[in-house]
Amino acid sequence: MNDFLKAMKFRHACKLFDDKKKISKKDIDAILEVGRLSPSSFGLEPWHFLVIENVKIKEALRAACWNQPQITTCSHFVVLLSKKAKFFKKGSGYLDESFGRRAKDEKSLKDIKKAFDNFIKKDLSVDVKNWAKMQVYIAGANMMSAAAFKSIDSCPIEGFNAKAFRKALVKNVSSFDKKSYEVAYAIAFGYRVNEQGDKIRWPLEKIATFIK
Ligand SMILES: Cc1cc2nc3c(=O)[nH]c(=O)nc-3n(C[C@H](O)[C@H](O)[C@H](O)COP(=O)(O)O)c2cc1C
Repeated sequence: MNDFLKAMKFRHACKLFDDKKKISKKDIDAILEVGRLSPSSFGLEPWHFLVIENVKIKEALRAACWNQPQITTCSHFVVLLSKKAKFFKKGSGYLDESFGRRAKDEKSLKDIKKAFDNFIKKDLSVDVKNWAKMQVYIAGANMMSAAAFKSIDSCPIEGFNAKAFRKALVKNVSSFDKKSYEVAYAIAFGYRVNEQGDKIRWPLEKIATFIK
């Protein structure tokens, strides 16, 4: 646990990366693998990760991201996409394919699809689009923790104009499948230039209540 806590203290929202330092292929693959292994509601993995190294594309995206320097100085800029709501509608091929990986027979496939449909229609407190994004946030959080464990810095990026960011992706990233994905958020990964400041957090007593 000590090593993990050390990594959590090392992690901070890095504001400026050393643009000369690249994350190795092995390390970025390991970070993405941790994202891939993340839990998701009903095991539906509603994500896709665009891993951007191209300088020109980073520059184009930076303009839509409040002009934040993290986007162009980082080694890898990962845009985390979430599947559109249509994939989670009754009858969707994606549900068949996803649940089919686990269901042992036709009956259990039918049962899980029904349970999921009930969940979406009756129990969920947010709309399906935001529910999908929530899953993607978990994968991203795990990736930042994995990076910190390898002494790699990160900065989650939600500071963008959603419309402008999407437009910049459509214009500059030909592999962005706009019919299938929403943008959830992005994470810049790289190596820090400056030391991090003090950690500002509420004390545990204020944010956790033990009920015995
Ligand atoms: C979803 C999310 C989006 C964020 N977006 C930005 C951002 O666009 N730019 C930025 O500099 N920091 C961003 N942050 C970082 C937070 O401001 C930061 O985590 C918080 O102030 C605590 O500081 P620390 O992470 O350095 O401990 C974001 C954090 C989260 C979780």
